[in-house]
Amino acid sequence: MDAELSESGAPALEALGLAKRFGAVEALRGLSFAVRPGELYGLVGPDGAGKTTAIRALAGLLEPDAGEARVLGRDPQRGGAVFRESLGLMPQQYSLYRDLSVDENLRFFSRLYALPRAAYRERRQRLLHLTRLDRFAGRRADQLSGGMYKKLALACALLHEPRVLMLDEPTNGVDPVSRRELWALLHEFVHGGMTVLVSTPYMDEAERCSRVGLLHAGRLLLEGPPLELLARTGAQTFEELFVQRIGEAA
Ligand SMILES: Nc1ncnc2c1ncn2[C@@H]1O[C@H](COP(=O)(O)OP(=O)(O)O)[C@@H](O)[C@H]1O
Ligand SMILES: [Mg+2]
Repeated sequence: MDAELSESGAPALEALGLAKRFGAVEALRGLSFAVRPGELYGLVGPDGAGKTTAIRALAGLLEPDAGEARVLGRDPQRGGAVFRESLGLMPQQYSLYRDLSVDENLRFFSRLYALPRAAYRERRQRLLHLTRLDRFAGRRADQLSGGMYKKLALACALLHEPRVLMLDEPTNGVDPVSRRELWALLHEFVHGGMTVLVSTPYMDEAERCSRVGLLHAGRLLLEGPPLELLARTGAQTFEELFVQRIGEAA
């Protein structure tokens, strides 16, 4: 492991006053939050809250107008090869090759990451097993259900075994059973030592995170461990709590 990338105590991911404007729209308005190593942090917010913009800034895919993004202590737009290898991203619109099979997609992405053949074989087997896609290895990506497609995208984003994984709305539009399976997978990765940032528009998914931030109109309205948030506010559900806070902020 790269010693420089493993300073203990430092956040794995950090947004420091991020601002981003698209024409008249202020997508991010001074967004600050930090994800500690080994956390499963949920960025929860309605459509248009700024989730995708925040993740793109953290992944180094978008230059903020103000503020800074930090990933493993570095500017994600300037990190080198070792840094890039430690980062995994599953964008909201994940493009797999639809006319390639599950197996062919995995092989394609393994070549992109220049994985040695032996490592690829071992990881392919483990990821197909984890995602329960083993039986569908020969199926074309465009013949998969929505949930299976997301799981294949996740497997492709994990082939290079990143230390920090960002997933943008992985459960959006996925059926409840597959949603549950995706969250179970994320919990397994976190138990294995990975740091995970996940965004979701589904307020009830807050309970599945170790810490959650409520994002609205480009900034955080509320943050904390999910059960603590409920206890602190006396709310019965995350929906009740979040909808009320968003109403107050409007
Ligand atoms: N490339 C872009 N051009 C113009 N407006 C954008 C662009 N990206 C995002 N926006 C706007 O910024 C706001 C936040 O968008 P986004 O980050 O995609 O929110 P979310 O992912 O939470 O739905 C929205 O109002 C959206 O329309
Ligand atoms: Mg989005």
